[in-house]
Amino acid sequence: MEESIRAARYLQDAGYDMLNCNNGTYDAWYWAHPPIYMPENCNLEDVEALKPYVDIPLVCAGRLDPRTAADAIAEGKLDGAGFARNFLADQEWVTKLMEGREDEIRPCILCHNGCFNMAHYKGVPNDQDLSDSLNMSRCAVYAETMQWNKHYISKTSSPKKVAIIGGGIGGMEAARVLKLRGHEPVIYERSGELGGAFIAASAESYKGRLRDLLAWYRKQMKDLGIEVHFDHEVRDLAEFDGMPLIVATGSSPIRLGKVSGFDRTVEACDYLLGKEEVGQKVAVIGGGLTGCEIAYELYLQGKEPVIIEMKDDLVAQKGVCLANSSYLREFFSWKNVPVYLETTLTAVEEGKVICSAKDGSTVEIPCDTALAAVRYRPAPIDVKGRKQTYTVGDCAGVGNLRTVIWSAYEAAMKI
Ligand SMILES: Cc1cc2nc3c(=O)[nH]c(=O)nc-3n(C[C@H](O)[C@H](O)[C@H](O)COP(=O)(O)OP(=O)(O)OC[C@H]3O[C@@H](n4cnc5c(N)ncnc54)[C@H](O)[C@@H]3O)c2cc1C
Ligand SMILES: Cc1cc2nc3c(=O)[nH]c(=O)nc-3n(C[C@H](O)[C@H](O)[C@H](O)COP(=O)(O)O)c2cc1C
Ligand code: SF4
Repeated sequence: MEESIRAARYLQDAGYDMLNCNNGTYDAWYWAHPPIYMPENCNLEDVEALKPYVDIPLVCAGRLDPRTAADAIAEGKLDGAGFARNFLADQEWVTKLMEGREDEIRPCILCHNGCFNMAHYKGVPNDQDLSDSLNMSRCAVYAETMQWNKHYISKTSSPKKVAIIGGGIGGMEAARVLKLRGHEPVIYERSGELGGAFIAASAESYKGRLRDLLAWYRKQMKDLGIEVHFDHEVRDLAEFDGMPLIVATGSSPIRLGKVSGFDRTVEACDYLLGKEEVGQKVAVIGGGLTGCEIAYELYLQGKEPVIIEMKDDLVAQKGVCLANSSYLREFFSWKNVPVYLETTLTAVEEGKVICSAKDGSTVEIPCDTALAAVRYRPAPIDVKGRKQTYTVGDCAGVGNLRTVIWSAYEAAMKI
């Protein structure tokens, strides 16, 4: 704190007119760019503490709750509040807030997948495509952000009834855009609710912003009057003959068939949806983003996760911002959560999992439950040869909301 005060005073004496402050460095980027795991207002208290030491306006930024920030300003603890990503997700954010239309705000989910998607893991400084990094101010949940010359709603001159198979985020985004363009989309969903995989993806205790986004999409469907047929599994495409079709049927989890006893594992989504209980000590198989987020949740719930990962680092995958992945890596290291890297699961037995280490030795890890957070594979339906058909979201290639929403938007613009 003393160094921060010294720095603030130095800048004031150097003639700066204003201080915009938050915590963090590029090595601890999750303070300045808080991912979903960081608490709201994470920098506020520290920035307020500078107030008695400077006379120039003092501004705080970083996952601020606008009400808390407004109270701090009213109480004279702060002079201004900075907001960045909320505006990338919804350019009308502040207008909707001021007009009491909060439930109309498309929330930022703090993912950095569109605005700052710089992946980094052991020995890999950044494996993103250059084009991703050069488009830093895009937004995963809104395809139009900073793409105004390319992406904007244009009304159709020939309105059509369009069938959409699947009511996940991909299906709902396609329906939203089609309806705004003047088409008549109809969603066919085999389950009894909208949301698909995102219901499980938004289930962890700390994922409130993701649940807000799910609620926003469901409200959009209602407000736009989108026709939805629940409990309708599409098996035969003949019912849509002559109609344009969007396939948004998502993905399904991979089974590690070569691992003996794999059927004993609890599948990640089954745990997240509360379909299956886990014991106190949980071996999380897979240290990618899904596995790490579940291990983080397990820790928060007072469980004892152990992470087992084949690769040489956690979250060793493309497209996850360093601010997000480094938080998880450092949290597990800080809390001494056991992490087995370069370790491959070979068997699941009663009370333990058996793995093979990089040097070929066998490692036995005791646990009450083995939880599989491995991989998903696209689950499209067969549309071979069908005209006017677009495959979007995870069924075209398993990704995240950025790939799902952008692909659904683009397909809906082609019809
Ligand atoms: C555990 C987990 C955590 C995740 N966390 C994140 C995250 O934090 N951030 C992020 O951006 N992404 C995350 N993802 C990825 C994200 O949730 C998915 O990419 C996204 O939800 C996929 O959307 P979709 O619409 O393509 O498919 P889905 O959501 O899978 O939707 C497909 C829908 O189609 C329906 N359906 C399938 N076949 C038929 C049929 N024949 N007839 C009718 N209906 C059918 C299904 O019931 C389902 O509702 C996570 C995924 C998982 C599994
Ligand atoms: C695309 C993007 C670009 C940013 N560029 C800068 C920058 O050049 N200088 C800076 O101090 N902060 C920059 N920030 C950080 C924001 O000012 C802000 O501190 C951060 O996003 C956290 O606030 P938020 O939770 O409201 O987004 C940038 C943020 C984003 C999303
Ligand atoms: S890409 Fe993600 S973090 Fe960035 S503004 Fe959009 S929703 Fe928020």
